[in-house]
Amino acid sequence: MQTDSSFTFVLFGGTGDLSMRKILPALFEAHRAGGMLADSGKIVAVARHVADRSEYLQWVNEHVKPHVSKNGVDEAAWASFLTRIEFAKIDLGNPDDFVLLRDAVKDLPGIRVFYLATGPSLFVPICRALASVGLNENARIVLEKPLGYDLKSSNAINDAVGEIFAEEQIYRIDHYLGKEPVQNLLALRFGNALFEPLWRREWVESIQITIAEELGVEARGDFYDNTGALRDMVQNHLLQLLSIVAMEPPHSMDSDSVRDEKLRVLRALKPISPLDIGKVAVRGQYHSGVIRGNAVPAYATEPGVKQNSTTETFVALKVEIENWRWAGVPFFLRTGKRLADRVAEIVVNFRPVPHSALGASALRAGANRLVIRLQPNETIRLYCLAKQPGEGMNLASVHLDLAFDQFFREGQMEAYQRLLLDVINGRLALFVRRDEQEAAWRWVEPILNEWKASNKPPKPYASGTWGPAAASAMLAQHGTCWLEEEN
Ligand code: BG6
Repeated sequence: MQTDSSFTFVLFGGTGDLSMRKILPALFEAHRAGGMLADSGKIVAVARHVADRSEYLQWVNEHVKPHVSKNGVDEAAWASFLTRIEFAKIDLGNPDDFVLLRDAVKDLPGIRVFYLATGPSLFVPICRALASVGLNENARIVLEKPLGYDLKSSNAINDAVGEIFAEEQIYRIDHYLGKEPVQNLLALRFGNALFEPLWRREWVESIQITIAEELGVEARGDFYDNTGALRDMVQNHLLQLLSIVAMEPPHSMDSDSVRDEKLRVLRALKPISPLDIGKVAVRGQYHSGVIRGNAVPAYATEPGVKQNSTTETFVALKVEIENWRWAGVPFFLRTGKRLADRVAEIVVNFRPVPHSALGASALRAGANRLVIRLQPNETIRLYCLAKQPGEGMNLASVHLDLAFDQFFREGQMEAYQRLLLDVINGRLALFVRRDEQEAAWRWVEPILNEWKASNKPPKPYASGTWGPAAASAMLAQHGTCWLEEEN
């Protein structure tokens, strides 16, 4: 992909964790690949506790370089990448400093992108300060999650940012939308005539979406303890995946066609009532345990976490979509930290044959299933029944496999790289529109409220397991179980 879209990419939170692990490595990858970033494009890092550009470059060498290119750094590319980086020492709490920023960027080329890799409490002050020196004009602004804490606080941010930037200037990141397999899900559904006719209530019995992590809260205990899994993962990543799995075919891949269809799904989610919540929602918290042979501590003892915290680190939900395509089909969502494996996948369980001429083994569970694995490896696997070799008609589950890393050996792109290139090139399709975000909060909020009102602690689970037993019991009531295969 060749580009001539020149840009000035202003990175607020230039020494933060996200800049270190994701944003700068992604920009480096795009630079290294060649042809993706205009040669004249510049990165202006903004930070307060760094004296000048040379000190910032030293920080980049020490902290960012270890996170780039798993297979070793291309030194020549790294050296030329550093020449793209400028630095502005700015105290975000001091609006006068933005005059310095304006002066620093005024002669730099191309479209201006302001990336707010900061806490959400700084979003509005930064946007106002940018506007006070005219930097909002013709610029793009990128907002990281979490965008607010609930519907009200997210609306307050969106209202205030919306007074300064038009909706088409605002790029709300959900990095799951930038993952290659999520793009592939669109290709699978809308590029093949094979699956789409079966993608509905008549043929689908249930759908599962799992994002399981082995990691705990790491160094983010403080943030996480005020957030919890429902806000951290369900309100955004899981509901975005759900909306892509369930949406109607868009008439094109332009940004609003895709986002309109996702929005329709989010608006059709059946509200979870306080009476039902015990049956359709499970919350858990990890206790100590063993993961890959290593002992790991309980959530409540992690740094930054309050003693006796009742924050959930695991959520499982049964979700229904109230429309013609999906009425009555349960969507089971689950996410958690310190689980038995790191895996993200979507499982479409098709209905069994209505009558088996081949005997009872043709009704066995485990066949008629499509598994789309997002990570750790990208595969699509279609399980079907086949006859076992030999005498008689004994059926066994077999699978057709598509392993993308074997099929396409090159060209894999990290989510952040794709999304940053989209911002620079003005492509909004993979960013969350305000109305989508509101619809997701509106659906999630009654669950949060009910959990808060009931004051019940989350169910404990040992680290290294698949979460509380209640999550399995919820599926057992529907005659199914979570797919938990070894990687
Ligand atoms: C982030 C969450 O949005 O996604 C983290 O805040 C989580 O808690 C992360 O660990 C998971 O992303 P990935 O790409 O590693 O699955």
